Amino acid sequence: MKRRRMIYEGKAKILYEGPEPGTVVQYFKDDTTALDSTKKAVIEGKGVLNNRISEYLMTQLNLIGVPTHFVRRLNMREQLVKEVEIIPLEVVVRNVAAGSMSKRLGIEEGTPLPRSIIEYYYKSDAMKDPWVSEEHITAFGWASPQDLDDVVNLTIRINDFLSGLFLGVGIKLVDFKVEFGRLWENDYMRIVLADEISPDSCRLWDVQTGEKLDKDRFRRDMGGLMEAYSEVARRLGILPESGQSEAKGPMLVR
Ligand SMILES: Nc1ncnc2c1ncn2[C@@H]1O[C@H](COP(=O)(O)OP(=O)(O)OP(=O)(O)O)[C@@H](O)[C@H]1O
Ligand SMILES: [Mg+2]
Repeated sequence: MKRRRMIYEGKAKILYEGPEPGTVVQYFKDDTTALDSTKKAVIEGKGVLNNRISEYLMTQLNLIGVPTHFVRRLNMREQLVKEVEIIPLEVVVRNVAAGSMSKRLGIEEGTPLPRSIIEYYYKSDAMKDPWVSEEHITAFGWASPQDLDDVVNLTIRINDFLSGLFLGVGIKLVDFKVEFGRLWENDYMRIVLADEISPDSCRLWDVQTGEKLDKDRFRRDMGGLMEAYSEVARRLGILPESGQSEAKGPMLVR
């Protein structure tokens, strides 16, 4: 078999050169990290679930007209995506106070926010992804005011759509992180959603019980991470009980 060229190995994924120019293959690893990589583990099967969940969410977002890098899933652990120039920002949306917001501002976890709040973190492992403002972003040229305008508009649509989608299956979308990239088509550039959307990058709480169905289970040593991620996939209707053909789509919860 021909050896593929590896482009980048990150904490949770590996990027390989894609089959055509302008494409890359995203390989989802089982590696799990938290707290600026001070906490690490390999959780068997996690990459398979994140590949599947991210495929599903990106496909649904595509259907409502949110442009994404996603092309198609190739196998259990890999998806083909369009290569983009990543905007070096982690864009975080919060609907309910949790995690670093609760700590930083002293707001009790679980407090609903008066409105959805967008925060930006500069992607720099060395600097531990510091919190930055729009002023920093445009002043240092990480994104232009026009880029940022597109990022905000897309982020609001993504939040509205995903909040509804998850609520339909009995899950509260507390907060999540997304990344965007510049996609060049001839001389024309547009901003598209990139990277992944999975329980690694979202806080997802069961509406009825408040049970955490996301990476906080790992951050907080609660155990049951695979069970939680499987439950998310099951509710979204993408984890068939037996055989792929039985995947039926989301099961609405009333
Ligand atoms: N379509 C794309 N084209 C190019 N790069 C991408 C694309 N989608 C995601 N990426 C980048 O690929 C990498 C995915 O790997 P992973 O998420 O494991 O990285 P990471 O360890 O979190 O590091 P980083 O701090 O760079 O995100 C990230 O750097 C992400 O920004
Ligand atoms: Mg990442």
